Amino acid sequence: MLNHATIERNATLLLVLGFLTVAVGGIVEIVPMFYLQNTIEKVEGMRPYTPLELVGRNIYVREGCYVCHSQMIRPFRDETERYGHYSLAAESMFDHPFQWGSKRTGPDLARVGNKYSDDWHREHLTNPRSVVPESIMPGYSFLAQTEVDTKYIDEHLIANRRVGVPYTDEMITNAKADLLAQASDTGDGAEALMKRYPKAQIRDYDGNPNKLTEMDALVAYLQMLGTLVDFSTFKAETESR
Ligand code: HEC
Repeated sequence: MLNHATIERNATLLLVLGFLTVAVGGIVEIVPMFYLQNTIEKVEGMRPYTPLELVGRNIYVREGCYVCHSQMIRPFRDETERYGHYSLAAESMFDHPFQWGSKRTGPDLARVGNKYSDDWHREHLTNPRSVVPESIMPGYSFLAQTEVDTKYIDEHLIANRRVGVPYTDEMITNAKADLLAQASDTGDGAEALMKRYPKAQIRDYDGNPNKLTEMDALVAYLQMLGTLVDFSTFKAETESR
């Protein structure tokens, strides 16, 4: 048997054996990664964000909503009973950057879509205390006055495509038309939009049909969150095997 003192007294031997030990540990961790097809399970229903939702998402990031809100329901009972099905990796696969957040001053928003009416969101974002008296959330009333700049929306989709979101050429060509169509009550362009983006919700979100405002975009984004995957039929891969 090798006397341990021999290793401890010989720096070179200690280094070589230390290196070998670490290398084995590293290989055991890394090699399986090369045999995985994909680290994100494909889930039916996920699609790239519509141009209006994407604009809303940018406002969400710009205003720092993630500082107080997470979008990541963990697989624990207290979380799933409160918020719904735990978040799937696929649900944030088109988020660049992701909005998991790290702090919950307010509740998780991953499944807030369709939980409240547009009116409620408008009231709440304008003055949170008017609907939740004890709220400490700041108001964002200026969103209803600020018009959305539609000029660069196609470039926005292109930028997202560069980082891996599968926007098609057709989606990019029609980006501006889709942006306007989704926040309108007239029904113009609705069919084409629905075809490109299944489950898109089309309506005037801010109660002001004459203007496309940041309120339209942010409420559209919030109303979409957590609604794309149908959890009444969803089965995780490990469950269905
Ligand atoms: C300073 C922290 C803070 C910031 C920043 C903040 N919120 Fe909140 N938010 C809260 C708190 C606290 C609540 C719970 C009380 C309430 O409903 O107002 C809340 C509640 C909400 C709710 C209702 C959630 C539910 O399930 O009842 C929504 C939606 C929401 N916030 C959206 C936003 C958006 C969008 C932004 C960014 C424009 C934002 N919040 C920024 C603290 C914050």
